[in-house]
Amino acid sequence: MPGSDFIVFGAPKIEQSEIDEVVRCLKSGWIGTGPRVAQFEREFADYKGVTAAAAVSSCTAAMHLSVLAAGIGEGDEVITTPLTFCATVNAIIHAGATPVLADIDPRTMNIDPEQVKAKVTARTKALMPVHFAGRACNMDALSEIAARHGLKVIEDCAHAIETEYHGRKAGTFGDFGCFSFYATKNVTTGEGGMVLTQNDEDLARIKMLALHGMSKDAWKRFSDEGYKHYFVVETGFKFNMMDLQAALGIHQLRRVESNWKRREEIWSAYNEAFFSLPLTLPAAAEPNTRHAYHLYPILIDEAHAGLTRDAFLATMTERGIGVGVHYLSVPEHPIYQERFGWRPEDYPHAMRVGRQTVSLPLSAKLTDEEVNRVVGAVKSAIPQASKGPASPVAAETVFT
Ligand SMILES: Cc1ncc(COP(=O)(O)O)c(C=O)c1O
Repeated sequence: MPGSDFIVFGAPKIEQSEIDEVVRCLKSGWIGTGPRVAQFEREFADYKGVTAAAAVSSCTAAMHLSVLAAGIGEGDEVITTPLTFCATVNAIIHAGATPVLADIDPRTMNIDPEQVKAKVTARTKALMPVHFAGRACNMDALSEIAARHGLKVIEDCAHAIETEYHGRKAGTFGDFGCFSFYATKNVTTGEGGMVLTQNDEDLARIKMLALHGMSKDAWKRFSDEGYKHYFVVETGFKFNMMDLQAALGIHQLRRVESNWKRREEIWSAYNEAFFSLPLTLPAAAEPNTRHAYHLYPILIDEAHAGLTRDAFLATMTERGIGVGVHYLSVPEHPIYQERFGWRPEDYPHAMRVGRQTVSLPLSAKLTDEEVNRVVGAVKSAIPQASKGPASPVAAETVFT
C-alpha cells in the first residue's frame, strides 16, 4: 500500500453517490448483469448521442468482440498504432487476425494516416486507431482511407470518453467504438468496457457473445418475469459487466463533465508551470476538436533534461508522486518480436516517444495542493531546469 501522502497515479474520484448505489445494489439481491447494466448502457448511449450500447467486462473484451462482429479473423490484417497498450494488439490476435503497425505522428502521438496508407494490403480488413491520451486521431484522413479500401474502423476509445472531432464524438466514426472503465480511466467501474455500434445486428451479436453465446436476454432468466429458457447459439465468452460495476458507472458518468473540467484546469496549470523547462510538453488540441485530457505525457530527452527518463521516474516516485509510462512501443515487447518479427527501430517515432515519455498525475481527484506538489517535484527533478524548453510547444489550449 502506498503511504498516505503518496499521489496514486490515476486514482479515481469516487463520491458518496457511487458508494450508496453500490450498497443499494449489494442489498438488492441482484449484483450480476441486470437492470443497472441496462441503465448504464442507456445513459452512456445518450451521452454519446447514439441509440444503443453494449456494456462488457473491459475495453479489451469490447475490441475482441468488435473484431469478431466485423467478421474479421484468420488471414485478415488489422492496422493499428505501435504507441498503445498491449490490449489493442492482443484483441486483434485473440480474434484470430493479424495486427499490422503503422507509426505515429510524433507531435500528436496518434497513428499517422500516411503511414497507414503504406501498410494497406489486399488482406487489410480494418483500421484500429487509438485516440491517444484523449486526443482525437485524424478521423477525416483515416475514414477516407477506410472508405477507399472498404475497411471497417474500430476505434480504441479507452482514453477518449469526452473526445470530439469536427463536431462528432469519438466512438461514433467507425463501425465500432470501444471504451474502457478501468480504474484509472475518466469514467471508472473498476474494470469494465462498452461497445458502440450503429448496426443493430452487430450490437445483438456482441451482447450474445459477451454472455457465453446464449440467446437474447438470457440475463433475465432469474428475474421476476419467471424462469426463461435460453439456447446457446455460438461458443461465446464470459465478457459481461455486473450490476455492481454499473452502480459505480452510472454515477461516474453523471460527473463526466465536471471531472473533465478539473482535468482541463490541471492540464493548463502544468502547461504554464513547465513551459520554460527543457521538456517536450503535449501538443495543444487541434481546432474544432475536444481533447479528453486523459493523460499528460511529457518527453524527457536526456540530452536536454540532464537525466534519463527512468531516472526521472525514480525521482518522482521517491518524492511521493505516482507516474506512468504510456507506453513503451509495442515492438519493444518480446512476444511480438518473436511472433511477428517486429523491431522497435522500424517504428522510430513510437520508439522514441516510448523511451522518453512520462505521464504525470491528471486525475480529477487531485487537490490544488497536490498539483503544486507535482509541479515542484518536476521542477526540482530536472537538473537542466534553467536551459529552456526542449521543443517549441504551445502552452495555450484550444477549446471548442
Ligand atoms: C489505449 C488502451 N486500449 C485498451 C485498453 C484496455 O482497456 P481495459 O483495461 O478496459 O481492457 C487500455 C487500458 O489501459 C488502453 O489504455
